[in-house]
Amino acid sequence: MAYNNIIVETHDAVGLIRLNRPNSLNALCQELTEEMGDALKKFEQDDAIGAVVLTGSSKAFAAGADIKEMKDRSYMDVYQADFITATWEEASRFRKPIIAAVAGFALGGGCELAMMCDFIICADNAKFGQPEINLGTIPGAGGTQRLTRFVGKSKAMDMCLTGRMMGAEEAERAGLVSRIVPLDDLEDEAIKAAATIAKLSRPTVMMCKESVNKAYETTLREGIMFERRLFHSTFATEDQKEGMNAFAEKRSPSFKNK
Ligand code: HXC
Repeated sequence: MAYNNIIVETHDAVGLIRLNRPNSLNALCQELTEEMGDALKKFEQDDAIGAVVLTGSSKAFAAGADIKEMKDRSYMDVYQADFITATWEEASRFRKPIIAAVAGFALGGGCELAMMCDFIICADNAKFGQPEINLGTIPGAGGTQRLTRFVGKSKAMDMCLTGRMMGAEEAERAGLVSRIVPLDDLEDEAIKAAATIAKLSRPTVMMCKESVNKAYETTLREGIMFERRLFHSTFATEDQKEGMNAFAEKRSPSFKNK
């Protein structure tokens, strides 16, 4: 598949997808979401890739769904095409770690896409928001749900009902982003974090990701049981033996992803 709206790169074991519609602040049109899904599927299948970074430009991660493209669609259009569900959610289904590197605007579907990733590293100029209310609609790619889990009810209500934007400092304080870095360092820092993860045992990393994600979807008791079972199952891997032996022998581990 040729890509018109994204740029795909690899940096050793890190895959990078750059949203690239500069004339519309990376508004997420249908074609872009299809391309992003295709690129993610390829990275998922590529054994050389251990983690992925999803990023935009210095001005915008993405300013939301493409308003001009969707404005005239009818209820039947969006319902029958299963708008959002059909092409947008590949990032949330991706089994390898995926980091959103956000600079500039991450609004509406852009904020929702960033929240589908495992964590968000943002630049000091980042601005997050769910301004759909200003367009006579509501977040439709998980904004009311994921943002509320990230930042709590009060701030999520504030963001979704007033449509105001939140800067990087507030986003970090509220727990939406894991860290803020200077704009010029954003891509390097995100790739560095992804490279750190990509060097680790792939199956163990996937289990860890699954376990953290479980915290959003179940009770504490069930989540802890799920974690315990996965923790136990790591003892069936060669990588757990290698990791612990390497520590005891004062050397670096050499993981085989087995
Ligand atoms: C289509 C968009 C766009 C969008 C910006 N553009 N956002 N086109 N869809 N979401 C286009 C503008 O029309 C303009 O094109 C160009 O990008 C530059 O934008 P400006 O508005 O001129 O830039 P600026 O003045 O800097 O303002 C930046 C901005 C503003 C504050 C981000 O563009 C804005 O408010 N955008 C819409 C944000 C939004 O409402 N997002 C939620 C979308 S709904 P031209 O051709 O005029 O130069 C959504 C629903 C999600 O995401 C639910 C499920 C998908």
